[in-house]
Amino acid sequence: MPYILALDQGTSSSRSIVFDHQGRIVASAQKEIRQIFPRSGWVEHDPADLWQTQLQTAREAIEESGAGAEGIHALGITNQRETTVLWHRDTGEPLCNAIVWQDRRTEPLCARLREQGLEALILEKTGLRIDAYFSATKLQWMLDETPDARALAQAGKLAFGTVDSWLIWRLTGGKVHATDITNASRTMLFNVREGQWDGELLDALNIPPSLLPEVLPSCGHFGATDASLLGRSIPICGVAGDQQAALFGQACFDDGMAKNTYGTGCFALMHTGRRFQVSQNGLITTPTAQAGDARHYALEGSVFVGGAVVQWLRDGLHAFEKSPQIEALAHSVPDSGGVVLVPAFTGLGAPYWQPDARGTITGLTRGTTMAHIARAALESIAFQSTALLRAMDRDAAAAGSAPLSEVRVDGGASANDLLMQFQADLLGLPVVRPEVIETTALGAASLAGLASGVHADLGALKRLWRADKTFTPRLDRKEAAEHMQRWEHAVRQTCVP
Ligand code: G3P
Repeated sequence: MPYILALDQGTSSSRSIVFDHQGRIVASAQKEIRQIFPRSGWVEHDPADLWQTQLQTAREAIEESGAGAEGIHALGITNQRETTVLWHRDTGEPLCNAIVWQDRRTEPLCARLREQGLEALILEKTGLRIDAYFSATKLQWMLDETPDARALAQAGKLAFGTVDSWLIWRLTGGKVHATDITNASRTMLFNVREGQWDGELLDALNIPPSLLPEVLPSCGHFGATDASLLGRSIPICGVAGDQQAALFGQACFDDGMAKNTYGTGCFALMHTGRRFQVSQNGLITTPTAQAGDARHYALEGSVFVGGAVVQWLRDGLHAFEKSPQIEALAHSVPDSGGVVLVPAFTGLGAPYWQPDARGTITGLTRGTTMAHIARAALESIAFQSTALLRAMDRDAAAAGSAPLSEVRVDGGASANDLLMQFQADLLGLPVVRPEVIETTALGAASLAGLASGVHADLGALKRLWRADKTFTPRLDRKEAAEHMQRWEHAVRQTCVP
């Protein structure tokens, strides 16, 4: 029975999961990675830590699976996106720490690009808004601030990559410098309409093309692991950024299908077919994991504070000791008693885009208890996701694409039934939780399985995807609309004068 190993290099940990040919988890291992905060607003990872933790977990997962390296047919990689690594081509040594997607240090560089009037051009070519989130300005910063970096880059001695490229480089013993289309699309240097690095953008940002990895479809051949690392040489056959991998793992292959991942933040993606579509509602456009010749696109939006609101209740308000206790506390009251909590701790993202907004609680009375606040906190995750998904639906309608018919969910907080039911109630759509909620790793394994012949085609993957529970809307539509009005009212209170 062929097994597939998925490497999932995330923001807080490196994980490795062995799947069988039916997409079932056979073994897994996980290690936290060190978060480095050199200054306010800066977030870094040590590239050596990313690599070592990933390698260790891969070895542990193979060991636990009992299959040995011989039993691992292929390997897939999925990763935190946008995080930027720069290393020496001859030694493989990084020049500096990786700058993580959350890092805001390059906002002044972004402001300069806006002043140069590049916003519309960048949106049209990359589908992205100019933001420090994406890799381009992080790479610019590294080239300008690291001693000798620019001269070495001009001489062709350096390699740039997102975390997938870095891992591919290390896994292949420095033989392959490649990335996939989903990761390339998060750099703000890649033309997603043409499917190639964009010369005009590289010039505008002063990035030497010699730094860049080769861009391949997500499902394909990215070389093979060095035999000394995992017990034998294993082909790397699937690579995708984590959110696109999750969309793939949820078998959302068609126009109108969407997934929402509930983690520290939430990431919603809606497949919009083969048409590149610029959002009128503050979302970004991104290619989906590419399996085959055609490029497909998705609309993407993120909620900055999703599950993190539960951590805030636990650590900031000491409402409970362990995060899962929130469900019982929230359940102890029939509703939030009119309390609405907007966790705009770091501003609000799509579709509001209010970076200066701050958190707010409205509707407090003498009768309000911690249980009402806990319930409102859980509900805030669903409110924010609803605002995002509705914005996607409006964009889809404007472009004549298929509307949302259901939302597939994954990530830690998707295990919370109360939250999922409220999500379905607000959206007025079925919310479907699959049996395997590790859909990010599953997506990478599915891509690798498809490229290596374990899965015949997308139809076979569709048949393997199995729903665990469907939450159907129970709330009257008028009541749901009133809830959303109360939410939008509370959002308006978050603007700090
Ligand atoms: O765009 C950032 C995203 O890829 C990070 O995902 O799951 O590592 O927080 P995660």
